[in-house]
Amino acid sequence: MIVFLIGYMGCGKSSLGRELARRTGWKFVDMDKEVERECGGRTVSEIFAAEGEAFFRTCERQVLERLCGERKMIVATGGGVPCFGDNLEVMNAAGRTVYFKMTPRQLAARLHHGRDKRPILRGMDDEQMLRFIERNLATRESFYGRASMTIDCDGVSDDYICRHVQMYMDQLSAK
Ligand code: S3P
Repeated sequence: MIVFLIGYMGCGKSSLGRELARRTGWKFVDMDKEVERECGGRTVSEIFAAEGEAFFRTCERQVLERLCGERKMIVATGGGVPCFGDNLEVMNAAGRTVYFKMTPRQLAARLHHGRDKRPILRGMDDEQMLRFIERNLATRESFYGRASMTIDCDGVSDDYICRHVQMYMDQLSAK
């Protein structure tokens, strides 16, 4: 079984994934880091700048296909992964997807400092970023909304989120 953590940039997939792996003893992989490794150690921003987004999405897909053969693994996906091609179906067939749902306002606040690492948000001021997230998330919700499980993450602690994912994982392994 693989648990894919999905959701918009800044929703906490990587830090929560690492914490979940610590609690469960499962392996943890961050897809952005895997793509960076496979692209010769370049950062996501460098890959976007040098090769373009389409190339980056192809790399994400290749990494996803490779990970699908794993067991007992928690995967923090990049925010765009479920929204391209049939990636979401591939993840739901290989394991379960857990969507960390947050409002645009909360995401924008959390991305205040992290925006420079995200090429899609580069150069936007706070107001532009909030408007962009509102529009972009509205489009992406149709993909994220098809996750196996959704957790409403606004105003709740990391511990609450981890315990919910763990309960879900326990239910799955009991079946
Ligand atoms: C992206 C999300 C990023 C990274 C890239 C594109 C997106 O990952 O893959 O900048 O399209 O939402 P995080 O969600 O980990 O920030």
